[in-house]
Amino acid sequence: QREKDQQLKTLYELLEAATTYYEDQLRTNDTRSDAVNYLKSRGLSGQAAKAFSIGFAPSGWDNLLTHLAGNDPEKAKRLKEAGLLIHNEDRDSRYDRFRNRIMFPIRDQRGRTIAFGGRVLGDDKPKYLNSPETPTFHKSRELYGLYEARKHNSKLDKLIIVEGYMDVVGLAQYGIHYAVATLGTATTDQHLERLFKIVPEIIFCFDGDNAGREAAIRALKTTMPVIEDGKEARFLFLPDGEDPDSLVRQEGEIAFSERLAKAQPLSEFFFKSYSENADLDSMDGRARFSTDVLPAINSMRPSLLQQMMLDRICELTNLSLEQLQTTVNFHEAITP
Ligand code: GTP
Ligand code: MN
Ligand code: MN
Ligand code: MN
Ligand code: MN
Repeated sequence: QREKDQQLKTLYELLEAATTYYEDQLRTNDTRSDAVNYLKSRGLSGQAAKAFSIGFAPSGWDNLLTHLAGNDPEKAKRLKEAGLLIHNEDRDSRYDRFRNRIMFPIRDQRGRTIAFGGRVLGDDKPKYLNSPETPTFHKSRELYGLYEARKHNSKLDKLIIVEGYMDVVGLAQYGIHYAVATLGTATTDQHLERLFKIVPEIIFCFDGDNAGREAAIRALKTTMPVIEDGKEARFLFLPDGEDPDSLVRQEGEIAFSERLAKAQPLSEFFFKSYSENADLDSMDGRARFSTDVLPAINSMRPSLLQQMMLDRICELTNLSLEQLQTTVNFHEAITP
């Protein structure tokens, strides 16, 4: 165990050293101008870059390797464990994972760098490269920007969940310092449990495209089972083609905050999406609608919101609560 703690400590130290190294390269590297110009072209302020410790990984195969490990093979091994090196077993060669990319350090709740996201400077693929799963980094649990949001305000009352690094940074640059991003994965119940321990309200704000709308439906289904009394989730849908970063740059903090204030409550989004293709004028349509919605309602914890949503289903279907509850129990009986 002590050995394991020591190993983890070494990884954190390397990740911290890499954070500093990438930040320094954005300020001093001879080849930094493309990176600086790219960030300028996206309207990123120096202050925002600093708040998120944004850096630059220069091109070349072994800049970080040489800087942090020199010729020490033990250190190179640790760098690989930290996710910063790639080891080609066939050719027994090691090289930097992140090359010619804008670097976003991902921090844990205590502010320690645990991983990186790296963006290409142009339109190459893959656009973003993330650290792999390592002893310090478990993608499905972590949220980019959470440390920075809490550092800016220790008494947060709500958090926004967005898709991307640049959304978090762009919103913060425009004064909205309470956005976090999942790391290229769907929102998990682990994310939500963590956030609801910190704030009573979460607003989902995904991109205004098909992927974003599908992510919202998935987030709805993941959120329903974790909602309890006193917790609230809402959904903000953006105009087609916009994401939080592009929109806040376009319309500013006040207009974006007004959108946030008008975000759809979970129940509203739920009924809208489930009744969209339902025929509530026919008995058959109402029966089908009830069958569709009940498993989701049934996935919820006992709560006031669940009761009210059940009431609403009664209104929409002309079923009594008793009739519905028979069906709820029926579902409980058939789902293991
Ligand atoms: P910008 O173009 O820099 O504004 O990025 P974006 O965040 O708007 O990109 P997009 O909406 O396409 O993707 C949202 C998030 O998904 C990104 O921030 C990444 O976390 C992730 N993502 C996007 N493209 C890739 C990729 O090629 N590989 C991986 N692993 N993740 C990606
Ligand atoms: Mn501010
Ligand atoms: Mn998108
Ligand atoms: Mn974007
Ligand atoms: Mn986007």
